[in-house]
Parts: sequence; C-alpha cells; structure tokens
Amino acid sequence: MTGPGRDAPGPLHLGVLVSGTGTTLLAIEEACRQGRLPARIALVTSDREECPALRAAEERGLAVERLPRPKSLPPGRWEEALDAALQRHRVELVVLAGFLRILPASFLVAWSGRVINLHPSLLPKFGGPGMYGPRVYEAVIASGDRETGATVHLVTAEVDRGPVLQQRRWPVQPGESAEELAKRQKPMEHALIVDVIGSFAARPRPPPS
Ligand code: GRF
Repeated sequence: MTGPGRDAPGPLHLGVLVSGTGTTLLAIEEACRQGRLPARIALVTSDREECPALRAAEERGLAVERLPRPKSLPPGRWEEALDAALQRHRVELVVLAGFLRILPASFLVAWSGRVINLHPSLLPKFGGPGMYGPRVYEAVIASGDRETGATVHLVTAEVDRGPVLQQRRWPVQPGESAEELAKRQKPMEHALIVDVIGSFAARPRPPPS
C-alpha cells in the first residue's frame, strides 16, 4: 500500500540531558513545536535535583525525570537508571544540551551513535575535561583567535573527541568580551543543534517496537 505518510516513521523521540539554564533545550522545544523539526522531546533529565532547565521543561509540560546521584548509590546504578528512563520514554536520540556530567563509558557503548553534544567552539580547540560554558568563551577570547564557532559531535568516552557531525564558524568581533560572544553566538549554536537533530530525524530508522 502507498499513500502520504504511509511509511513515515513519526517524530524522532529525543531525550535531552541538562544541567544549566536550558536555552538549548528551549530552542529545540520551540523548533519541535513550530514544526521546523520532525522530533518530539520525550524526556528531559538531569542528575541535578534543580536547575533552571528542569523548571523550564516542567513549565512547558515536558516529561521530566530527576536522576540524582547520592554518594550511597552503588557503582553502575546511575547509568542503569538513565538507560531505563530513556527506554521507558522510547528515546531514540540523546541530546546533551549543557549537561555537565561525563557519561560513563558503559552507557556510551550501549548508546553508541545515538548521543550527541553541542560544544561552543571549533573542536578540538577549547575542548576536553573542564571546558564548558563560560570557560570556553573566555578561552576563545583570551586566545586572540579571530574566528570561532560551534561543534556538534557524537559523544564517546574521550571527552569532546567523538566524531564531528557538523561545525559552523563565525568571526570573533574586535574588542568583544566573553559574555558578548556567548550572547551573540547562542542563537547560532541553537540553529546548529536543531539542524543536526533534523538530519537524524531524516534518516531511515526501525519502526517503534
Ligand atoms: C552552551 O554554552 C552550549 O554550547 C553548551 O552548554 C551551554 C548550554 O547552555 N553545550 P544552556 O543550558 O542550554 O543555556
């Protein structure tokens, strides 16, 4: 049988991991809501009990699960809980949107090729452990580079070293501060991650089980 939408796989189910302010999450949510991205945020999660991103997700009626990591938690349990939550919500692609915890290698192997991260520089420049958020913009400005950009890459056990999916570049303005650069480039970062998610959504994939 043929016909419009007959074999359409439906919106790509996203699991978005957050730790911070949530501007990336909100950009993805808006793109989904406006029909610019054939995807749906199936779950927002964090190892934090509270952060602005979680509150913003709840205000928009998104499914939120908090996965705290008390010191008493036996090794391996946290990633098991994360995996279970993602499966429960039928997540197909995991998006790290300002998520600060380094994910365990066992989780990344199980989800290989299905976890992406947005990094606010032209990796491998200004990447690696400890390089996130404001630190990256500060390092770019301190370097004197005239050009910077953002990267979306697959997440592997080596921090910020997974295969690059897409990079976009733009100039650093003369005399610009790290805060000014961050503010100016955020919308461009958001457009980049939305585009990359769109390319995942366009790929053929197995029907939901
Ligand atoms: C941004 O700098 C982004 O490039 C990086 O983490 C930050 C996320 O900010 N991945 P927000 O929480 O989405 O506002």
